Amino acid sequence: MPSDELSKYLETTAKSRAIWEEACRYLPDGDSRNSIFWKPYPIFTESAQGAVVTDADGVERLDFINTMTTMILGHGPEPVLDAVRQQIDCGLAYNSPNRHQVDLARILCERVPSFQQVRFTNSGTEATLNTIRAARAFTGRHKFAKVEGGYHGTHDAVMVSLRIPAGAGGDYDNPQPVASSAGLAPGTLEQAVIIPYNDVDTARSILEAHRDELAAVIVEPVMGSVGMLPAEPEYLQMLRDFTNASGALLIFDEVISFRVAPGGSQEYFGVTPDLTSLGKIIGGGFPVGAFGGRSDVMSLYSPLTGPVVAHAGTFNANPVTMAAGAATMQELTPNVYRRLAELTEMLRQGVRTICAELEQPVTVTGAGSLFGIHFTDRPLRNYRDIAAADKTLAEQMFIGMLNEGFLLAPNLVGAMSMALGEVEVDAFVRAFRRALLRQR
Ligand SMILES: Cc1ncc(COP(=O)(O)O)c(C=O)c1O
Repeated sequence: MPSDELSKYLETTAKSRAIWEEACRYLPDGDSRNSIFWKPYPIFTESAQGAVVTDADGVERLDFINTMTTMILGHGPEPVLDAVRQQIDCGLAYNSPNRHQVDLARILCERVPSFQQVRFTNSGTEATLNTIRAARAFTGRHKFAKVEGGYHGTHDAVMVSLRIPAGAGGDYDNPQPVASSAGLAPGTLEQAVIIPYNDVDTARSILEAHRDELAAVIVEPVMGSVGMLPAEPEYLQMLRDFTNASGALLIFDEVISFRVAPGGSQEYFGVTPDLTSLGKIIGGGFPVGAFGGRSDVMSLYSPLTGPVVAHAGTFNANPVTMAAGAATMQELTPNVYRRLAELTEMLRQGVRTICAELEQPVTVTGAGSLFGIHFTDRPLRNYRDIAAADKTLAEQMFIGMLNEGFLLAPNLVGAMSMALGEVEVDAFVRAFRRALLRQR
């Protein structure tokens, strides 16, 4: 990294550094959330309003990641704050269900093609855990297939083949499960069948080899963790055809990709899974997750006739989250999705134009309001393509854009919000040019 870039970061983030040093006394490396930690230390946020996030040093930055894709309306949208305030005046958490969960459930079931019924959790992790558990209970099988590099939260089953150390992971056409964390229960790897993304023939032949053992195939229709890589529609269709024929359930993890259309990626790509997990935007900024789908599968959770699959949680469907989520979803009209997609395409094109002018190879990926910037012109279809690309420039540009006053994820992915507009996108693209020139 150019030393000036790092020096500027260090100079402008002294208070964040002091808080982080204090945090290190109580939290391992001052952190509770590995996915948003970066070196040398992250900035600490004081406040966020609209498109602007202010850090502990009083530096304001425009938010182009929006809490890892969550804050789709921007920070502090009035209709959501109103709904939250009204609910807070009526109590924070109850020992009974509340009507807001019915509102949010109805909105989701009306919009998401696969949702006949839904249940709420407090995280996307719990949502994917339940889709896999439900599929096992429904099919009586144990194994499940996941895409190499796919992220589905942090429970044991899915902490497999997320990041693969060089030399591990097997051949491309015969990928082997690799533990992505120490401490997984014995047998975890044996339950996972790993398939490459966007390769219909290779993935199908791996799936066929496990045809009668698979309870489920889980896939992100837009892979967030590798940098907003959309699925090719024929790949999703192949998974649908395979699962229909084999009796496995098809699970879409739409914790991120639900952003791309009112009915999520399943509407966008026209492929309907059996089960879907959601999170992030549907809680309006509060901790949330949801899983839902076919009512014959969801009925495994029925308390009157079972439940066959147990599912409790003190804060499941808590009233404040449900009120915020329902208010957020009501704001998300088809016009909002169109506007977000237009702005994001403007950003993608702007970055491509700048990179062409500066002769910097780039591929800008994404769908709807999601984007990822990759400094390579080689085709990007799956985890291994992304892993092979050099990350040094991306790391430099992340700090460079922070110095310019713009927030992204450390791997240069971003997500548009309704608090941003053409002026901010234009400012982003101009800042990107300046930051790129400084890395030369
Ligand atoms: C695709 C996907 N699935 C699941 C999760 C886990 O959600 P949570 O962080 O709410 O547990 C995430 C989180 O980023 C995600 O991106």
